[in-house]
Amino acid sequence: MAKMTSISNISGVGLRLPHLMEIVATLPPIGWLEVHPENFLANPHAAELLTELSTHYPISLHTVGISVGSAGGLDRSHLKRLLSFIDRIHPILVSGHLAWSTYGNDYLNDLLPIPFTEEALRVVTAHVDEVQDVLGRSYLIENPASYLGFCSSTMPETEFLSELVRRTGCKLLCDVSNVVVSAHNLSYNAYRYIDDFPADAIREIHLGGYTPEEDTATPDSQLLIDSHAAAIAAPSWDLYLYALRRFGSKPTLVEWDNDIPPLSTLLEEVVKVDTAFGQCSRKQSEGHYVDAR
Ligand SMILES: [Fe+2]
Repeated sequence: MAKMTSISNISGVGLRLPHLMEIVATLPPIGWLEVHPENFLANPHAAELLTELSTHYPISLHTVGISVGSAGGLDRSHLKRLLSFIDRIHPILVSGHLAWSTYGNDYLNDLLPIPFTEEALRVVTAHVDEVQDVLGRSYLIENPASYLGFCSSTMPETEFLSELVRRTGCKLLCDVSNVVVSAHNLSYNAYRYIDDFPADAIREIHLGGYTPEEDTATPDSQLLIDSHAAAIAAPSWDLYLYALRRFGSKPTLVEWDNDIPPLSTLLEEVVKVDTAFGQCSRKQSEGHYVDAR
């Protein structure tokens, strides 16, 4: 059967293994699915089921093992494994993170931050070029959830991303909840960040839940942790409406990776995405907006 090669509905869900069998059995009304290829590469049965699902849903691959921010270079064998998986699934989009997660031969189970400097930009540019050359397609880079900033940074994150797009021709994945998390933790204006984000390059949006935790370094304050373990919070929905105004309609993913709820809960979040999109479209057609700032 033919693969799905276009998205007709903007809302999608991150497909995690606990929901795989239920989705195969029920084929719920979801616009598209996103998976971490690393969850399927070592699981032939799951990969077979995903191949079947790719005839029913457009699939987006969101890599967690391509470390474009690592100074030590890319893992080329992993890149080759990803390429063969792409040849099997025929995803509509392939994305990864503006982060590093390898050091030498060690994989660190985290997405670690990079300073926004010309030196780091050269490293990331070379790696994104290499990824796109090997995969033979555009690679989407996702803005990080940040918990600290580097004194050595010489440019804002949005400028770093804009320059990366200009140098490599890559596309971007804007995680709106990451913007809420980073803006809170680093004390900047999330709406200004969306204003400055290189909108023309956006091919996908993420929305995920975060968890407030006590900031032990600063009395009486909280850090927001990008936990993907909760429902999408009100500030993310508000910023999403604002982002839709600025970016227009973009495929939007509900991400929930920890404390995974029943599939029905994810589908309720999908309905909220569609409602937000409908609300935004209606206000646009009526020629007015509610400015959330
Ligand atoms: Fe994300």
